[in-house]
Amino acid sequence: MWWTRIIIIGLGLIGIFGLPLQAQTKIEVAHWWTSRAEAKAISVIKQAFEQSGDIWVDSGIIGGAGDPMVEILKNRITTGNPPSAVQALIGHHLWQWAERDVLMSLDEIAAIEKWEDTLPPLVVQMIQYEGHYVAVPFNLHRVNWMWTSPEIFKNTKTEVPKTWDEFFVSAEKIQKAGFVPVAMGEEPWQVATLFEAVAIGLGKGDFYQRALIELDLNTIQSEMMIEVFQTMRKIRAYTNKQRQGMTWDRASSMVIKGQAAMQFMGDWAKGEVLAVGLSPGKEIGCFLIPQTQGIFLFVSDTFAMLNHHDPKIQLAQQKLAKMIMQPEIQERFNRYKGSIPVRQDVDLKNFDACGQRAKKDFEWSEKNKTLFPSFAFGLSAIPEIRTVILELINKHFDSDMSAEAAVKKMVALVKAAQ
Ligand code: GAL
Repeated sequence: MWWTRIIIIGLGLIGIFGLPLQAQTKIEVAHWWTSRAEAKAISVIKQAFEQSGDIWVDSGIIGGAGDPMVEILKNRITTGNPPSAVQALIGHHLWQWAERDVLMSLDEIAAIEKWEDTLPPLVVQMIQYEGHYVAVPFNLHRVNWMWTSPEIFKNTKTEVPKTWDEFFVSAEKIQKAGFVPVAMGEEPWQVATLFEAVAIGLGKGDFYQRALIELDLNTIQSEMMIEVFQTMRKIRAYTNKQRQGMTWDRASSMVIKGQAAMQFMGDWAKGEVLAVGLSPGKEIGCFLIPQTQGIFLFVSDTFAMLNHHDPKIQLAQQKLAKMIMQPEIQERFNRYKGSIPVRQDVDLKNFDACGQRAKKDFEWSEKNKTLFPSFAFGLSAIPEIRTVILELINKHFDSDMSAEAAVKKMVALVKAAQ
């Protein structure tokens, strides 16, 4: 019969390409990598996983920094319907899942694959919960970048600012020339990204450490914090008027298209630059947010594996975890993503100029203790505190609330949550 021949040929082909004959395992992967570049990056992992014979059910949930995804997942986990893998940022963001006792331990894989030998010590510490590995990391993203349109700076004969004073001079000229000085979207974490950079830029590492990591009330209640809020208000005057519903990648495209001069954004924005075939460092400038030179505010993305009883799913989860840490996968993923590989032994010779700079700066900052976990992304404070402070930062940014009132409110929020 013709159809039996087709089956036999089909089975033969499966054998030739090394695909297993047993049933494939389906795993559902929840993440928020839905922009053009993010989707390209995650497809590297998806393809590798599917080539190994199993099925990847993709649950991409729109919303940078993962806030919408976390809300949806909390519900699914409580009702006993968890996905198999979930994107999480290292530190408190990840630990909120670990605390619920829903994560699979990755200790065995970490030991066999010697994760400790290739990962930065701070990352090792932040992907562990109560001494156990609970996630597998992909990358290191720098948060305090400033992406620029060289064309606008050239046409308006303005300098790329290194300080906030210089920024206000350039921004004024750019605005008068009819361009948007700063592209800024609406999501609360986008404003918070700028806030933490202003805080560390004005107050330096000590202030950031005490105010936004230790949440020390005296530091929060200081003149410096008032200056931070005042500076935010002044910057607001130079952002696009229409921010409603604007995602970070649409803000990036304003810079890419030469409509806005600057965007303050982590290097996932560089992914968008690469995705449209432009070269970062040349056609789009990569500088640091004013006054943050020498400082590396970072976030690192991971996948955590949620507990499942089915041994087939467990095997597939372990396979995925191993895959993410392969040097070759780390290179391909991160070249699309805009980040640098979290494995320190991956050669960056094929990366763009801004990526190579990020790697050098990361090593320098690690040595010189100017490496700081991002508050905006929930690395440095528990989610309950981060959420209410983000709300406050945005409320202040979008209203006429005074800097003094904002500081008072911040003190009250931290007191209430401690
Ligand atoms: C961050 C994440 C980045 C990037 C960004 C915007 O939380 O670390 O990888 O995707 O959100 O979606």
